[in-house]
Amino acid sequence: MSMTTKELKRKYLEFFKSKKHAIIHSAPLIPEHDPTVLFTTAGMHPLVPFLMGQPHPLGKRLADVQKCIRTHDIDEVGDETHTTFFEMLGNWSLGDYFKKEAISWSFEFLTSKKWLGLDLNRLAFTCFAGDKDAPKDEEAASIWLSLGVPKERIAFLPKKDNWWGPAGETGPCGPDTEMFYWKPNDVPAPKKFEQSDKRWVEIWNNVFIQYNKNKEGKYELLKQKNVDTGLGVERVAMALQGKTNIFEIEVFAPIIEKIGEISGVKQNNENSRSFRIIADHMKAATFILGDERGVVPSNVDQGYILRRYIRRSLRHLRLLGMDLTNANSTIEISKVVIVIYDDYPLLAEKKDFIFEELRKEEDKFLKTLDKGLKEFKKIIEKGKIISAKDAFLLYQSYGFPIEMIEELAGEVEGKVDVAGFNKEYSCHQELSRKGAEQKFKGGLSEASEATTKLHTATHILGEALRKVLGDNDIKQKGSNITSERLRYDFNFDRKLTSEEVKAVEKEVNKVIMQKLDVKREEMSLSEALDSGAQSEFGTKYPSKVSVYSIGEYSKEICMGPHVKNTSELGKFKILKEESSAAGVRRIKAILE
Ligand code: ALA
Repeated sequence: MSMTTKELKRKYLEFFKSKKHAIIHSAPLIPEHDPTVLFTTAGMHPLVPFLMGQPHPLGKRLADVQKCIRTHDIDEVGDETHTTFFEMLGNWSLGDYFKKEAISWSFEFLTSKKWLGLDLNRLAFTCFAGDKDAPKDEEAASIWLSLGVPKERIAFLPKKDNWWGPAGETGPCGPDTEMFYWKPNDVPAPKKFEQSDKRWVEIWNNVFIQYNKNKEGKYELLKQKNVDTGLGVERVAMALQGKTNIFEIEVFAPIIEKIGEISGVKQNNENSRSFRIIADHMKAATFILGDERGVVPSNVDQGYILRRYIRRSLRHLRLLGMDLTNANSTIEISKVVIVIYDDYPLLAEKKDFIFEELRKEEDKFLKTLDKGLKEFKKIIEKGKIISAKDAFLLYQSYGFPIEMIEELAGEVEGKVDVAGFNKEYSCHQELSRKGAEQKFKGGLSEASEATTKLHTATHILGEALRKVLGDNDIKQKGSNITSERLRYDFNFDRKLTSEEVKAVEKEVNKVIMQKLDVKREEMSLSEALDSGAQSEFGTKYPSKVSVYSIGEYSKEICMGPHVKNTSELGKFKILKEESSAAGVRRIKAILE
């Protein structure tokens, strides 16, 4: 019997538990305190403060299953191994074990009959070739050799292949060693690994994080040597299930089947790209809407990516020839995703919200999709280069995301004046659209000072709201911090009066001026809750947590980081108080 993804995940956690790792929960897809990315792109992302030296309450060895989205892979979706949504298995050493243990354990887990039992004959390994910043990784290679890997199956590659991180422009990073699996079942693996042969599929990456890339672009040694690994669940499941295409494994096959059923079209070589795009995008859309910090379709940030996923799926369903009128097709596909991923119970809990948002977005776009496609045809018949004005018309009047216009043009060997479109766009919009994942050019370290201050301010704000509004049941329902501002959602059933907003602002500034120390303690979850520490609504916490206190004023379960003293914050100012959802208010504020 071939192994399911659930079985694979269970085995992985069991294996690393046996190597004394604490198991942590998947962090949300939408990061709370990290302005460098729109989505969590790897398991290491939520762990950056701990890789930089902050102690983790669960110790120095951690492992997890993390839901991830990598939108920069969007153009590759449609082949046999790329998706934008995927699950990553990871194990970490925070200044504890290093190369020898990490590599030996990866080898044991992949090849031992007790665990995955993959054929060593179908595996290959790459190591860092060395450059001016860091030496050739002979050590990693010699560990692979000592485990019985043939020399020809070990390749040394440069930084662009065998170095991981930082996630932004600055931050933790290091050389890595990657594991590849020979995909074909009918052709034996060649003796020697060749990077150019794409039948070798990367399945696992062990990163030896020992550097911090600083603002000057220099690699400085970190005070602790860390291990960060990432194993792609879908790709390894593909190998275990003897498939050559990830869309055939059990977390995709029912979605592909559903697309065939609702469209009435059979998958074939010509249309399989559309099937795969729809399957990946609707899975990603379901997970974004069903995230702990779910967002809704919009024209900015994560909401814009979500909109693209849904609209592109609809366009590809149309391309398959489906009549979309009254079909609720995105909901039908999303239902299948929720059934497959019953190990993410939040999806089922939030299903009404997910379906409602899909229905609204589908209704909105279907009003203009066909007309827009007609208009596109007219435009492209005039010439292969779509002008900024025409692209803007398709965007503004028909709701076509610019990336979709580019895709449509590309299909008939046309091009779009994207730079012109962006100019046109910023003339019309107050906010600039950020399609790219890279949100804050400076990277995490540069942004971290500003975000750390704003993060501490959210703790004070939460307490100030409870005090000023006299309501102890007020809880955080979500928060989002960029280097410029904080956004804080909380349960409250009416608009705040302007006097209340002023009083909250005054209260926060009073606390800042009291110069209170911020203290961090570790304790069990029950001790923390008994001590009256605040927790966020709907968040799953591990059995041991860190609790941050601001003087005697506030106490919250939180991963940090925070400033040392409130005097560092400056002046707190509320910009806006508005409704966020039924019974939920939202405050946007800055520190001056
Ligand atoms: N952070 C590493 C990766 O995503 C493990 O490949």
